[in-house]
Amino acid sequence: MLFPHLLLFFLALFTTRVSPEYTRPNPRPLIFRQHNRSDSDPQQVHISLAGKDHMRISWITLDKKVQSKVEYGKSPGKYDATATGESINYHYFFYSSGEIHHVKIGPLEPSTSYYYRCGGHGPEFSFRTPPSAFPVEFAVAGDLGQTEWTESTLAHIGAKDYDVFLLPGDLSYADTQQPLWDSFGRLVQPYASTRPWMVTEGNHEIETFPIIYPHGFKAYNARWLMPYQESRSTSNLYYSSDVVGTHIIMLGSYTDFDSDSDQYKWLQADLASIDRTRTPWVFVLIHAPWYNSNLAHRGEGESMRKAMEQMLYDARVDVVFAGHVHAYERFTRVYDNKADQCGPVHVTIGDGGNREGLAMSFDNPSPSISLYREPSFGHGRLRVINSTHAHWTWHRNKETNSLHVGDEIWLESLASLALCKKTNSSTRSPKDEL
Ligand SMILES: *[C@@H]1O[C@H](CO)[C@@H](O)[C@H](O)[C@H]1NC(C)=O
Ligand SMILES: *[C@@H]1O[C@H](CO)[C@@H](O)[C@H](O)[C@H]1NC(C)=O
Ligand SMILES: *[C@@H]1O[C@H](CO)[C@@H](O)[C@H](O)[C@H]1NC(C)=O
Ligand SMILES: [Fe+2]
Repeated sequence: MLFPHLLLFFLALFTTRVSPEYTRPNPRPLIFRQHNRSDSDPQQVHISLAGKDHMRISWITLDKKVQSKVEYGKSPGKYDATATGESINYHYFFYSSGEIHHVKIGPLEPSTSYYYRCGGHGPEFSFRTPPSAFPVEFAVAGDLGQTEWTESTLAHIGAKDYDVFLLPGDLSYADTQQPLWDSFGRLVQPYASTRPWMVTEGNHEIETFPIIYPHGFKAYNARWLMPYQESRSTSNLYYSSDVVGTHIIMLGSYTDFDSDSDQYKWLQADLASIDRTRTPWVFVLIHAPWYNSNLAHRGEGESMRKAMEQMLYDARVDVVFAGHVHAYERFTRVYDNKADQCGPVHVTIGDGGNREGLAMSFDNPSPSISLYREPSFGHGRLRVINSTHAHWTWHRNKETNSLHVGDEIWLESLASLALCKKTNSSTRSPKDEL
């Protein structure tokens, strides 16, 4: 009933990019999670940062009469604060979503565990807020999907503590089969209800259908509301947030990015507003990589790179994380296809475990700017130690010890490097081969 394959195939023609030139071995089976509690009990609970000292709690109920209300407090079972929000629902062909609740709570204290209940029903959840000072740790994985590999990635992520999860696009791989969005929400709930999940969209979020749903992102925008209003953006498809001395910018690879687009103008204003003494680190997430030596999805990020790379370079963005290619790849600091000490490090981390499997083939020999590449499912961790040093590590799912490191690098913040101080293109620093 849930898997009308012919219809799926037909819809997929409109919604996904098919890349037949490489083989993707051994994807693992899909996991479908059912809701097995009452209609008024919350399901698919996830949280996200919502501006300074606030968190957004999102969940779904089948019972449309449940109030959009979150009770919360600092001890289990003792809720001394209540916040209310809004709920929405949407239709997609014959599918009607449950009631999707979004409630913003706060102000919250840093490094503090909060206990909460959604809609006055069901179990208690808890999360911990990020700290007020370094160090802070991010877990990063894109192209997650909902397979046994996804479960493995999530288990590896959960095996060691972190503060915030960052996802550079491609969440559920529902690909227009809406019940798979619900199943994904249930699969990730144990993680996404305990630490903020900050996501941006990938191609699998688009779900346009000619004439009927021309604008796309219907399910994604309804379910994964991100703090775009809190960051003066007019679209849920791009936004930014500050986390402990880091400014994190989520860009949209599948919405306009040309110099006359809203996204471009928003990015310009957002970059100009960064105070590097307050947030010495700047990280950007996109879906389609601008640098990629894998044979999969070659060139798909190129027009966005041409439109926006100079802005990121001039702003001395430290790292650009991308997904889309189902493998891990780390580049040196680059600008305009050349090694450049003042450009961002580019990392492709699209190896979260989706049903399409891995992208096995890379250019041979490796281009000199590509320093590490491997087609294995896994996740990354970015531990920002202080205002000048951060440690990036990549962890394969194959390793039973989730602390085992596959790749690692120490980063120095560009704001702290005298060589890179100039911040506009007319005064670009000399390009050096690394
Ligand atoms: C209900 O679902 C949860 C999570 O999917 C599972 O762990 C649990 O065993 C299920 N309970 C029953 C009674 O099916
Ligand atoms: C930042 O951390 C690095 C790595 O641990 C250390 O070498 C450096 O001295 C620290 N800098 C400051 C200002 O604390
Ligand atoms: C770039 O920097 C130079 C020198 O610091 C300054 O004169 C110029 O106005 C700046 N240009 C822009 C567009 O900010
Ligand atoms: Fe993708």
